Amino acid sequence: MYTLHEETKEITDIILAARDKAREEVGKSEPEAQFAKPMTWPVQCTVGPGLEGAIACESKVGYVNGSKGMLVYRGYDIFDLCAYSTFEEVSYLLVHGELPNTSQLREFNCSLARFRSLPMTLRRLGGFPVENINTMAALRIGTMMMRQRLSFRDSQSARPDPNTAISADEDSIPMETKPMGEPHAIYEFKKKQLERPKDARETQDESESVQSCMHLISGMATIAAGVARMREEKMPIEPDTELSHAANLLYMMTGRKPTPIEERVMDVALILHADHGMNASTFASMVVASTLSDIYFSVGAGIAALNGPLHGGANEQVLRLLQEIGPAAKVSSWFEQATREKRRIMGFGHRVYKAYDPRARILGPLAKFLIQEKKEMRPLYNTARELEKKVVTTLGAEKKIFPNVDFYSGIVYAAMGIEPELFTPIFAVSRVSGWCARILEYLDNNRIFRPRAMYIGEFDKEYVPIGKRGAKKNARKK
Ligand code: ACO
Repeated sequence: MYTLHEETKEITDIILAARDKAREEVGKSEPEAQFAKPMTWPVQCTVGPGLEGAIACESKVGYVNGSKGMLVYRGYDIFDLCAYSTFEEVSYLLVHGELPNTSQLREFNCSLARFRSLPMTLRRLGGFPVENINTMAALRIGTMMMRQRLSFRDSQSARPDPNTAISADEDSIPMETKPMGEPHAIYEFKKKQLERPKDARETQDESESVQSCMHLISGMATIAAGVARMREEKMPIEPDTELSHAANLLYMMTGRKPTPIEERVMDVALILHADHGMNASTFASMVVASTLSDIYFSVGAGIAALNGPLHGGANEQVLRLLQEIGPAAKVSSWFEQATREKRRIMGFGHRVYKAYDPRARILGPLAKFLIQEKKEMRPLYNTARELEKKVVTTLGAEKKIFPNVDFYSGIVYAAMGIEPELFTPIFAVSRVSGWCARILEYLDNNRIFRPRAMYIGEFDKEYVPIGKRGAKKNARKK
């Protein structure tokens, strides 16, 4: 039945061994009744700071049982998906709700292949100093540039047509006009008023949205790979229609066709990161989508949120932290000092998991497998293992802090020769499937997200003219 991964059976065995270990340690996970049932609104729940415990919506996309370390996409266990599936199939599953049959997957793959080639977007991105900017910022710019056409909805906001702007003859721009603050002083673009089409709706229709999602799921890999190349002052590489999504990502980054093992490991990493409940970046993208902004803007918000070191940005920080610690023998003293300084240890802890993260259960052994061939990475891996032991026996026992997905992913990517600055963009290349699936699902019954803050400030203050305010401390500088 599972003939898909014959060449990389060792990887399948590693994943199945991780699954068996998880089952042995926590038993077969059952969903928690309070987080896996239909809601009747308004809902009563206990909300902590950072919206801990808040129920934002119902979803059929995925489920995390934090007390048992269980992760499910559309009913399928993450271990089974990693062992038997592919990122393409998982993306189809997340977006459409069911695993595809052979012809559906073929059609899906054809669409992804069509969307994977983005020469115009990459040309536009190349106009930015990509080698000097944060990789997630570059990914975000590139993703925004995938949305190239103006719609009639944009025309209302009277922005110049980017196509006209790019193709404008420089000599025709009246640069000698003094920029005195007039709106047309520098750029004299002719305002193009797009007509509202007769059958136009205020929102994207279903098929338009699904197409945009596929464009993003496929194209963000091209942009991330293009960013990797441009950082090294190399030209982006065209995708190869014969390669899978994971293989294309590696190929477009390095210019070398990956080995079956490299392709499979990247595929597993993409599957593992594809969705994870109402995490910060998913929620950020859904908040933007709920305003009926389009999917590109929503995904842009997801990229921005993912960048933070408390979220997806942790994977890059983990590698830097391991390098800072040095050899495994130094872990103990480093940890004592970090505890004294109340430092957060990157790659550990999670809002939802109070047990071992199933994704770390897979990525840890994969890292071990990959470094067999990479002698120079063994000290780093040994330091990671030692740190894991230290944290699990102390903070794990005390505060239920365990390694999360970001702890070993960096070692896995580094073992494949990928630069740390690209770890978080690769995370985004995967998570875009989850963002899209949840946005589409939420838009079916959209209501704008609009929580409230409790006002704890003052009232009835008298306005004092600036000259009479005297010397005061800046309120934010404590
Ligand atoms: N290292 C040390 N102590 C930690 C860590 C950590 N990584 N994480 C949590 N704690 C401690 C806190 O100091 C706090 O202790 P206290 O109760 O004595 O004050 C307690 O655990 C609870 O921490 P919170 O801040 O309430 O946990 P929260 O749910 O808000 O934060 C988060 C979760 C942001 C992931 C946190 O664990 C963290 O900062 N981890 C490091 C960054 C990281 O790895 N992020 C990636 C997460 S996975 C992902 O987003 C893809």
